[in-house]
Amino acid sequence: MNDASPALENLLTETRAFPPSPEFAAQANVTADEYDEAVADRLGFWADRARGLLTWQTPFTTVLDDSRAPRYDWFTDGRLNAAYNAVDRHVEAGNGDRVAILWEGEDGSERRITYAELAAEVARAANAIAGLGIQTGDRVAIYLPMIPEAIVAMLACARIGAPHSVVFGGFSADALHSRILDAQARLVITADGGFRRGAASPLKPAVDDALAKGGTDVEHVLVVRRTGGDVAWTEGRDVWWDDVVPHAPAEHEPVWVEAEHPLFILYTSGTTGKPKGIFHTTGGYLTQCAYTHSAVFDLKPETDVYWCTADIGWVTGHSYVAYGPLVNGATQVVYEGTPDSPHKGRWWEIIQKYGVTIFYTAPTAIRTCMKWGEEIPGGFDLSSLRVLGSVGEPINPEAWMWYRRVIGGDRCPVVDTWWQTETGAIMISPLPGVTATKPGSAQVPLPGISARILDDAGEPVGDGQGGYLAITEPWPAMLRGIWGDERRYAETYWSRFPGRYFAGDGAKYDDDGDIWLLGRVDDVMNVSGHRLSTTEIESALVAHPWVAEAAVVGASDETTGQAVVAFVILRGGDEITDLPTGEDGGEAIVQTLRGHVGQVIGPIAKPRSILVVTELPKTRSGKIMRRLLRDVAENRAVGDVTTLADGGVMDLIQQGLAKG
Ligand code: PRX
Repeated sequence: MNDASPALENLLTETRAFPPSPEFAAQANVTADEYDEAVADRLGFWADRARGLLTWQTPFTTVLDDSRAPRYDWFTDGRLNAAYNAVDRHVEAGNGDRVAILWEGEDGSERRITYAELAAEVARAANAIAGLGIQTGDRVAIYLPMIPEAIVAMLACARIGAPHSVVFGGFSADALHSRILDAQARLVITADGGFRRGAASPLKPAVDDALAKGGTDVEHVLVVRRTGGDVAWTEGRDVWWDDVVPHAPAEHEPVWVEAEHPLFILYTSGTTGKPKGIFHTTGGYLTQCAYTHSAVFDLKPETDVYWCTADIGWVTGHSYVAYGPLVNGATQVVYEGTPDSPHKGRWWEIIQKYGVTIFYTAPTAIRTCMKWGEEIPGGFDLSSLRVLGSVGEPINPEAWMWYRRVIGGDRCPVVDTWWQTETGAIMISPLPGVTATKPGSAQVPLPGISARILDDAGEPVGDGQGGYLAITEPWPAMLRGIWGDERRYAETYWSRFPGRYFAGDGAKYDDDGDIWLLGRVDDVMNVSGHRLSTTEIESALVAHPWVAEAAVVGASDETTGQAVVAFVILRGGDEITDLPTGEDGGEAIVQTLRGHVGQVIGPIAKPRSILVVTELPKTRSGKIMRRLLRDVAENRAVGDVTTLADGGVMDLIQQGLAKG
């Protein structure tokens, strides 16, 4: 089990609890009754939510079809369209003038987009994409910064039933290429660039490089103009968004798809070197996104101003920027840039400016802001806030308390929401009007969700005990598979505990039966709330000609939760002639290898430190013992080495480090 979790140390001593105020509880969207309702009839509960929160073109009669388990199908005979649910129906209901997106550019530019305007823009984009030959079922890769066109592009794809595959703009050309190939995307939607930390940062060159690697089915690249920078142009392939979208008709008949029609693919790191294309379908996903967005954040669409800081390149940006809030008719802030640009109070300034009432962010950001000092948020009026959310990694009680006190003025409930790319939507979280929240705990499965902590043998553990988190009943927003790899889906998630979904997280019940997440138990790291695979970074390192072997671990880090630490063995022999030597040689090697990982995967995967060693600790069967390396990386006494093939290796590594 991953013993690096900051939540673990505090778990035994944390006894604080914060019940909702009577005023909050009295106005909350959801009361404790919903737990009982869902226990009494789980499928009926979800069927009601699906009917109440979505508009169906053909109503469903089947709720759950488990005949193909572990592939579970929801609302199978119903038909609907995601974009229609996110936009058009709000206009039809008379809310076309409501602001959907309050967009703030990093450079201070602003755009206010109403639901009526969004509906027209999505329809135009859908027509333009269809004009480029994209049909229902075709895949479209989206590689965009946080600009409104990113959301428009996703919805336009959804409107014609073309599954989108959003690739985070921080990923490299290599990573983009492999994702385009795997999904066999026919179109890429990108921009000339975006603004980050005060500078224009180009995006299109990565698309050009990715496509130059060949083998793809991409016929067109649709390019949004954002920075105005120069771009290379491939005639016949590349098309400016501005040349086709604004001229396209603002009417488009949505394609009514079956509930199980794929809505999107999103690649995430697993325990092997190859990212998994997690795919989600339409009806169940939207149902749970909409329900959780309303229940967990207590959204009042007429009055709230909601802001989730996630990028659309991650699942949080899909479920709680693009789909959940829009399906619920919310008004939301979308911000292009980083929290420190042009100053460290930028987020709080935005909250003050727009009167944000619900704020959803990641622990790593909260810890960073803590480090900057509370006088920075203290300089802004944050009194509009009423609910705070956290997602992406365990939040340590200290950061939770700071968030509640400094940002929430001791008045806002803090909801720590546990879920995954695979679960599609929030699974374990307090309900702000019901639960007495505890600093650092995600606490309870939501109504309609069945989760248990199991021991090694798959038996449920009791209060006060720890084990592996499993989801014991299918849920509407669950992944439907790994794109193109059904076997890997069954093996990864359903073989550890047959019949139950294995989440890959360690967890523990406290004495009240509340759940505390303890971090990953597999070879997946969580750096700043982003999932990275140890194996994937190892493969990237070994692909460099200087590297013979590599082992990567996630070491606990005060700000980012975990940080990437790599141990590498360099190649000997005469064939390597360009290895830097001399006094600065070591540093030059490390910098080159860090840059190399950045290039293969993306800057987020660059190791915080790289240690050059002569041996790696391995079991007799040859498996790298990452547990021991984690001890070294975290400066702990090295644990049990008795299963090591060569017990002296750890001494060697530690001596080497002591010298270095
Ligand atoms: O380890 C858990 C952690 O993030 C993993 C899922 O990562 P990803 O698919 O990228 O999705 C992140 C955003 C939903 C989980 O397996 N995780 C996520 N939220 C929490 C968390 N760990 C503890 N507490 C959370 N609230």
